Amino acid sequence: MIEDQNNENSNPSNRRNFLKNVALFGAAAGIPTVLVQSCTEKKTTSVSESEKDIPLILQSRTLGRGSAAMEVSALGFGVMGMNYHRGPFPDKKAMIKLAHQAVERGVTLFDTAETYGPFINEELVGEALSQFKNKIAITTKFGFNYAGNKINETPAGVNSRPERIREMVEASLKRLNIDTIELLYQHRLDPNVPIEDVAGTVKDLIAEGKVKRFGLCEVSAETIRKAHAVQPVTAIQSEYHLMWREPEKEILPVCEELGIGFVPYSPINRGFLTGSINEYTDFTLGSDNRKILPRFQPEAIRANLKIVEELNKFGRTRGITAAQAALGWLLQKATYIVPIPGTTKLSHLEENLRTLDFTFSAQEWSELEAAVANITIIGDRYPASEQKQVQN
Ligand SMILES: NC(=O)c1ccc[n+]([C@@H]2O[C@H](COP(=O)([O-])OP(=O)(O)OC[C@H]3O[C@@H](n4cnc5c(N)ncnc54)[C@H](OP(=O)(O)O)[C@@H]3O)[C@@H](O)[C@H]2O)c1
Repeated sequence: MIEDQNNENSNPSNRRNFLKNVALFGAAAGIPTVLVQSCTEKKTTSVSESEKDIPLILQSRTLGRGSAAMEVSALGFGVMGMNYHRGPFPDKKAMIKLAHQAVERGVTLFDTAETYGPFINEELVGEALSQFKNKIAITTKFGFNYAGNKINETPAGVNSRPERIREMVEASLKRLNIDTIELLYQHRLDPNVPIEDVAGTVKDLIAEGKVKRFGLCEVSAETIRKAHAVQPVTAIQSEYHLMWREPEKEILPVCEELGIGFVPYSPINRGFLTGSINEYTDFTLGSDNRKILPRFQPEAIRANLKIVEELNKFGRTRGITAAQAALGWLLQKATYIVPIPGTTKLSHLEENLRTLDFTFSAQEWSELEAAVANITIIGDRYPASEQKQVQN
C-alpha cells in the first residue's frame, strides 16, 4: 500500500489508533470479530470468516485546512449510481449491503446530492449509512429548484437563494437521518445569487451546527476565491480524469494555494476508463444519463477506446487493471485529491480500493499521461444545455 508521507495514518501509532477504531467500529457495525482482529496483524488486508482477503484502506487524506479541514479515506465512494444515472442497479437491500461493505473496508467518505433521483439517493444513504454517522462523512449538495418535491421531477433550473439552501438542508438532514452535514457543496453556480451570499448562508448554517463544512462544484478560480474569503472552502468537487484535465489549468493551482481539497467526480469517466464499455453498450435503460453525453455516443466510444488501450498497456506490465491505472494517476497528482468512484458491485469496489496497493514512479505516470495526451478525444463531455451550468 502506498504510504503517504504527509499522512497521519502512515505513523504507526496513528495506524494502531485507526485499527483500534476499526475494531470498535467493527463491533458497532456487526462485522465479525475475526475480521477486525486480523486487521491488527496484517498491514493492508484483513481476513473474513470465509478466509477471503479483503482490502482495507489504511491511508487517509485531508481535504481543506484549519477549521475547514476534513480527514477522510484516500478513496471515497460516489453513491449516485446505486439508484440514479448509471443504468440498471440491483435492489435496495443489495445496495445497502454494498455500502456497509465499503465502510467495512475503511471507506469514510460517501457522496450524494439532493438532485440524485431527486431525493431517493439521499434516502438510500440515510437508510444505509446514518448508523455510521460518527465514523464516516456523508457529503451532499444543493443548488436546484424542485417546485413539487416529486421523485423523478426534472429540476426547474438552478437555485441557490438563501431560503432554498435552508429548505434543502432541513429536508436533506431528514432524508439522511443525521444531525449535521459534514460537507455541503453547491452543486452548480446560480448566476442570480452572488457567491458571497451563498457562502454567507452556509457560514450561518455552520454556526447553527446544521452543516460542518463548505464545498463548491464546477466553478471558476475567481468564484472559489470569492467564496473562500467569506467561508473557508474544504473541497472543490469537479470532473477530473485522464479524459478531462481542465482543472489542471486554474482550479488545482488555486486549491493548492488556498489549502482547499479536490474531489474528482466521475474519476473513471463514468466507467469508460475501465474498459468495460464499448460501442454496443446500452445506455437507454433507466435514468442512465450517458445516453445523452457526446462522449458516450457509439462513434466517440469507438474512437476513444484508444485511451483504454493505453491504460491496459500501462497496467499489463505492472499487474494492474485499467480502472486502477486511471485512479492511480489521479491519486498521484496531489495528496489533497480524493476521488469518489461509484459502483454497484463488490468486485469493482475492491478492485478500485486495491489501487492503493500500488505505487509507481512519477516518470512512469508521466509516460502514461503523455501517451494519452497524444490521442485526440472525440466528443464533448457534456451536451450544450449542461455545459452552460459549469464555469469551465
Ligand atoms: N458534482 C457533480 O456534479 C457530480 C457529477 C457526477 C457525479 N458526481 C459524483 O461522482 C460519483 C462517481 O461518478 P460516476 O458514477 O459518474 O462515475 P465513475 O465513478 O467514474 O464511474 C462509475 C461507473 O463505473 C463503473 N465501475 C466502477 N468501478 C469499476 C471497475 N472497477 N470496473 C468496471 N466498471 C467500474 C460503475 O459500474 P458498476 O456498477 O458496474 O461497477 C459505474 O457505471 C457519483 O456517485 C457522484 O457522487 C458528482
